[in-house]
Amino acid sequence: MTRVFSGVKPTGHLTLGNYLGAMRQWVAVDQHRSDALFCVVDLHALTVDHDPARVRRLSRQAASLLLAAGLDPGLCTVFVQSHVDEHARLSYLLECVATDGEMRRMIQYKEKAARERVRGGSVRLSLLTYPVLMAADILAYGADEVPVGDDQAQHVELARDLAVRFNQRYGHTFVVPRATLPGVAARVMNLQEPASKMGKSDDVGPGIVYLLDEPDVVRKKVMRAVTDSGREVVYDREARPGLANLLEILAACAGGEPAELAGDYDSYGALKKDTAEAVVEVLRPLRERHKELCADPGYVEGVLREGARKARAMARPTVDAAYRAIGLLPPVAETADR
Ligand code: TRP
Repeated sequence: MTRVFSGVKPTGHLTLGNYLGAMRQWVAVDQHRSDALFCVVDLHALTVDHDPARVRRLSRQAASLLLAAGLDPGLCTVFVQSHVDEHARLSYLLECVATDGEMRRMIQYKEKAARERVRGGSVRLSLLTYPVLMAADILAYGADEVPVGDDQAQHVELARDLAVRFNQRYGHTFVVPRATLPGVAARVMNLQEPASKMGKSDDVGPGIVYLLDEPDVVRKKVMRAVTDSGREVVYDREARPGLANLLEILAACAGGEPAELAGDYDSYGALKKDTAEAVVEVLRPLRERHKELCADPGYVEGVLREGARKARAMARPTVDAAYRAIGLLPPVAETADR
């Protein structure tokens, strides 16, 4: 069976973009058709300035939201990265296969590091090596497919390169993974800046709908979305990106095709109203389920404990094999007769 691995980073609250662009597909498709692992990648949250209490809180929340969205621990493995030592163990070996030039070429690193330097801050070494840890996340489990947004495609490409290189040098050890990108329609843009993606953000963005926003907050954000000048409702991603984003969100939440939906509206106001309600309805069951899970922390803990146990059992043999292949001595077994 195909193995799928993906991760969410607990650096901010999860958004409608995360849900429509990725999580919904994991729930509806991936967990049923494959042997899938979904990981709260908390180690990755330490690559930038962080507040320990916040990372803890967001990690717990991300795990609950994955379950609230419909990931079923009976079908897939949901776990927290730092609970499984294999990620860090393998990451070091892969650092010995990757080059520094390769790391410095990563677009996300270049952008984030540049931004940090402008602010006069320092850049953590782990921000540079982060794609190697991500490669370890993927390769430890022999994942065939990695469903991610296109901003992560370069990192998955690196994981492929490292797998191929390791296999050539040290003997076949890793499955060579590939990225699977979500459909175009699932790419949700920021309601205030339709040119940029609705990603997680540290600030409370008026253009970002968070999965746990109250219905009235969702309505307000959608009603205030920037639209383009012009009056008639048409679907044109290039010329009318704000409008196109609303039509795509409506289509993703309520069904239909953006271009056809455009024909149903003769005012921006009516489109916004329907879009807001469609988003509220999509998020309603998720918020309700999340509330139930918060009332039962023991359940979530149990899922994560079992998830880590399963994940460890899957990763261990591959990572051990990599340790042997690269030239490290097997640990000397403790003997009983001493
Ligand atoms: N880098 C990803 C992001 O920022 C998160 C991530 C970490 C990930 N490890 C992964 C995604 C492994 C897929 C597979 O969104």
